[in-house]
This record gives sequence, C-alpha cells and structure tokens, in this order.
Amino acid sequence: MAATHIALFASGLAVLLLLVQGSPPGPVVQCQSRNTNCTVTNGYGAFPDRSTCRVAAVVYPSTEQELLFVVSDATAKQQHMKAVTVYSHSIPKLSCPGGPSCQGLVISTQRLNRSVSVDMTTSRMTFEAGITFRALLDAAAARGLALPHSPYWQGVTLGGLLSTGSHGSSLFGKGSAVHKYMW
Ligand SMILES: *[C@@H]1O[C@H](CO)[C@@H](O)[C@H](O)[C@H]1NC(C)=O
Ligand SMILES: *[C@@H]1O[C@H](CO)[C@@H](O)[C@H](O)[C@H]1NC(C)=O
Repeated sequence: MAATHIALFASGLAVLLLLVQGSPPGPVVQCQSRNTNCTVTNGYGAFPDRSTCRVAAVVYPSTEQELLFVVSDATAKQQHMKAVTVYSHSIPKLSCPGGPSCQGLVISTQRLNRSVSVDMTTSRMTFEAGITFRALLDAAAARGLALPHSPYWQGVTLGGLLSTGSHGSSLFGKGSAVHKYMW
C-alpha cells in the first residue's frame, strides 16, 4: 500500500515537472505590416493605465552604425523615439514614445545582443545593451567570471537593468546595484 502511494506521488511529481516547463514571453511589439503600424506592450501584456501604445514603426538595428543612422534619421524627422528590449520586463510605460499618437518609433535592442570583448587582466567584459542577463552570465562563466550582485530574473537585458537601476538583494563591496560594477 505504501509503495502504491509512493508510486502515485512520484508520477504526480513527474506531471508537475512537465507542466512547469518555462518558455519566454511572446513578442512585445506586434505590427500590422512588416515593421510598421505597430503596438508596443510590456512583458505583462498591459501597462498600468491600460492604454494601447501605438507606434508608426519598429526598427531592429544590429550594429552601432545602424543604430546611429536610425537615431539621426528619426531626429531629422522630429519623430519621438523610445528603446524597447526583447521581453520588456518593466511594468511602467517606459518603452512607449510620447508625442502624437501612432507617429513614434521604437528602437528594439533585440539584435544588439553580442558579447564584444573580454579583458582577463582586469576581469572586465564589454557587451551590447540588448544581451539578456542569462547570455551575459553564461559568457562570463565561460571565462570563469561572475557578478557579485544581480536581479533574480535572467530575462532582463543589460541596457534595461542598468537604465532601471536593477539590483541584487544584499550589501557588500560597492553595494547591490548592478550599475556600480560598470566602467
Ligand atoms: C494600422 O492598423 C490599424 C488596425 O490595427 C488600422 O485600422 C489602420 O488603418 C492602420 N494604419 C495605417 C496607417 O496603416
Ligand atoms: C541574439 O539574438 C538572436 C535572435 O535575435 C538569438 O538567436 C541569439 O541566440 C542571441 N544571442 C545571445 C548571445 O543571446
């Protein structure tokens, strides 16, 4: 009898383990036609004011030169711009450009996600802003490096966590804010 119970418990646990398999959230920018006429949301699918953020277009630069071109082009057109990250984990409406409705531009950091360089003599690494924290930690770990503090969710991007002041939970050294470890 006890053995049956244990077997049932074990199979129940197996089902639970299958059910909790994770997958990343869906895209936060959705467009009507290719990369134009889009809506922007956050990782939760709703901003606190419940409004829908509409933008004229989204761009996905993959190099610094492309990013410079995109920003200068939109500046010349006096278009409002905001950066949006791959999963857009912030609840506030940080990624919605202001200005006339539907005329703004969002610049995604999704393709700016590379590890740029490493200097083992100073234990410093350089990354592009759109790299996810998971990929950053993996790249650092591959060199035997680690960060003393970090937010708990590894889907945040480097640019997002620095610009929102993300932090760890304890205090030593320079404190728990990740930007304290940036050069
Ligand atoms: C944008 O898409 C909406 C549907 O979501 C449509 O009603 C509207 O006409 C489109 N605007 C342009 C400029 O294509
Ligand atoms: C960068 O993003 C692409 C998709 O946009 C993905 O295939 C690739 O694995 C990402 N690289 C890293 C280091 O996260």
